Amino acid sequence: MPIQIVQSIADARSTCRLQNRQGKSVGLVPTMGFLHEGHLSLVRQARSDNDFVVVSVFVNPTQFLPSEDFDTYPQNFEQDQRLLEDEGVDLIFFPSTKEMYCSSNSTFVEVTGQLTTNLCAISRPHFFRGVATVVAKLFNIVEPDRAYFGHKDAQQLAIIQRMVQDLNFDIEVVPMPIVRDSDGLAKSSRNSYLNPDQRRSSTVLFRALQHAKTLITQGERSSNRILAEMEKMIQATEYTRIDYINIVCTTSFEPQEYINSEVLIAIAVWITNTRLIDSIRIDPANLTS
Ligand code: PAJ
Repeated sequence: MPIQIVQSIADARSTCRLQNRQGKSVGLVPTMGFLHEGHLSLVRQARSDNDFVVVSVFVNPTQFLPSEDFDTYPQNFEQDQRLLEDEGVDLIFFPSTKEMYCSSNSTFVEVTGQLTTNLCAISRPHFFRGVATVVAKLFNIVEPDRAYFGHKDAQQLAIIQRMVQDLNFDIEVVPMPIVRDSDGLAKSSRNSYLNPDQRRSSTVLFRALQHAKTLITQGERSSNRILAEMEKMIQATEYTRIDYINIVCTTSFEPQEYINSEVLIAIAVWITNTRLIDSIRIDPANLTS
């Protein structure tokens, strides 16, 4: 079957409903396009788990501030289409902004509490409301059995899981590991903004996270001491400006003073004008060096 490209909500809904009625399982991979191997790992998992695979490609305006990169966010729909055809995707949902948000749109989904007040929410307070809103809309349109999200955006993943539980969506959220370049940089559509010098500096995010892991493996348990070492490494690297580094509980996202149970070490760094995020989960009871 050739890939279907659908721009209207009504068409996406009727096609997906038909699959549901025929007893077929539907998998959804929400994206903002400009696809790379990270996205494709989600698509491949969706392809192997479901009868019908939907990928949405939509640069969602409500998760950007006017000062952010909405207008310049990289896009290449023809390339995305070719990649998704090669993966055997059934349907691409590619709506316009007008289709997704009518001018009188005034309803938003907001996950509250610690999950949406620290880490990325500090410098991007609008961000998770936009993400939760668009993902809830996509869930209502596609009505998938499963939806795929990357650990790359660890806080986003936790917020979607919270929303699915709190709003009783009958959807299995499937978390997927971070896909990295060979030097450790997490794949991201925004990596395309980096020039070769900035690209070299950008590996410091992964190196700082690996250094933290080494310290914990050697027995260090003080978050402050680990964070101070990471900060030193990053500050010694050209083009960098730290947005945040933190060590939080993987479920509550509360900052942890000492590492006694599984933690998420999360980091956001500006490389000149490009903000990159990365994270690792570490369980001190289960360390492999
Ligand atoms: P986008 O940045 O395009 O990412 C789409 C999905 O791909 C997210 O679940 C993200 O975590 C995952 N992803 C991105 N890079 C990855 C990598 N290197 N390894 C594994 N997974 C990776 O995240 C968004 O879009 C938007 O906020 C969205 C959820 C679509 C809502 O607009």
